Amino acid sequence: MALLEVRDLHVEFDTPDGVVHAVRGLSLDVERGATLAVVGESGSGKSVATQTITGLTRGARVRGSAVFDGTELLGAPEETLRRVRGAQIGMIFQDPLSSLHPYYPVGWQVVEMIRAHDRSVSKAAARERAVELLALVGIPRARQRVDDYPHQFSGGMRQRVMIAMAVALDPALLIADEPTTALDVTVQAQVLEVMQQLQERFGTAIVIITHDLGVVADLADDVVVMYGGRAMEVAPRRELFYGPHHPYTEGLLRSLPSRGEPGARLTPVPGAPPSLIDPPAGCPFRPRCPHAFADCHDQPPLRPVPGAPGHLSACFLPTTRTAGGAPPAAAVHELQEAP
Ligand SMILES: Nc1ncnc2c1ncn2[C@@H]1O[C@H](COP(=O)(O)OP(=O)(O)OP(=O)(O)O)[C@@H](O)[C@H]1O
Ligand code: SF4
Ligand SMILES: [Mg+2]
Repeated sequence: MALLEVRDLHVEFDTPDGVVHAVRGLSLDVERGATLAVVGESGSGKSVATQTITGLTRGARVRGSAVFDGTELLGAPEETLRRVRGAQIGMIFQDPLSSLHPYYPVGWQVVEMIRAHDRSVSKAAARERAVELLALVGIPRARQRVDDYPHQFSGGMRQRVMIAMAVALDPALLIADEPTTALDVTVQAQVLEVMQQLQERFGTAIVIITHDLGVVADLADDVVVMYGGRAMEVAPRRELFYGPHHPYTEGLLRSLPSRGEPGARLTPVPGAPPSLIDPPAGCPFRPRCPHAFADCHDQPPLRPVPGAPGHLSACFLPTTRTAGGAPPAAAVHELQEAP
């Protein structure tokens, strides 16, 4: 059994304009100790899906199932969710300032986090653990800096503090929602490396939401490609880059700027994302798909690609078309740079 098993997750919001179908039947597995990358353009439901799993989506109608380590999280009492959040599932967001309290020293916040889950830990022991954690995520002079306030840290250092808080209780799963988007490129790489080191040391599973296919190439074991609140394709990383099946994934890979080519430009997938209030019938990608045909007026199920274990695609095109297909040059470049 996977560490996290999400099945047929639906999340809807009532708005003055109508019902927003933010997530429409998402299923995914996160294996223990593995990294799952979630990609897809803005508004595809990545954040709503992951926040719903941890009970952080307010005012939504939720259906489906999300079983974490044997416990059903959807509809679980707030007390259960509070226990799971932090202790078993750590979370990191794009903007650490929104999660760190501006008026308290960072060390104090780590101490509170630890003691909120276990009152038997003394303040002194929790503080010592806070210093250790800050050192572990690469904050220089951690013992002195433990009493500094969030504004006294750079963006990259604040993100390290967030990671320290997220892993303070040794969670089995870390959910990182675009953890490096707000950072410059060098700092991004450092923060990702910290996450990878923690994963190797503690065997933490990671769900990373990212717009950066370079991050996927570096970090992911498996990838989920979301579109219009659904998974369009699920595959092991190499399989996704070398043998994508879904036309939307192909479009995303084509939009990848090759790092090696000076002046290479990102070419987004042409067309607009689907309306979430009035989703198109049939395949949600149909209005933008260069291969659409009559069958696509029905909803394609997410089905296995034969001969490719762990590879699923929600597209009616024959699954044989991926065989031997050359990956886009930029994707090869990303993979060659990956470990
Ligand atoms: N509280 C809410 N009420 C109404 N609609 C919402 C609410 N929260 C999110 N949505 C809508 O749900 C859809 C999915 O949002 P979500 O934040 O999950 O997208 P995302 O894939 O994380 O995008 P991004 O890459 O920009 O972060 C969006 O259309 C968003 O406007
Ligand atoms: S099901 Fe049809 S419209 Fe949808 S991605 Fe496949 S070919 Fe394109
Ligand atoms: Mg988001």
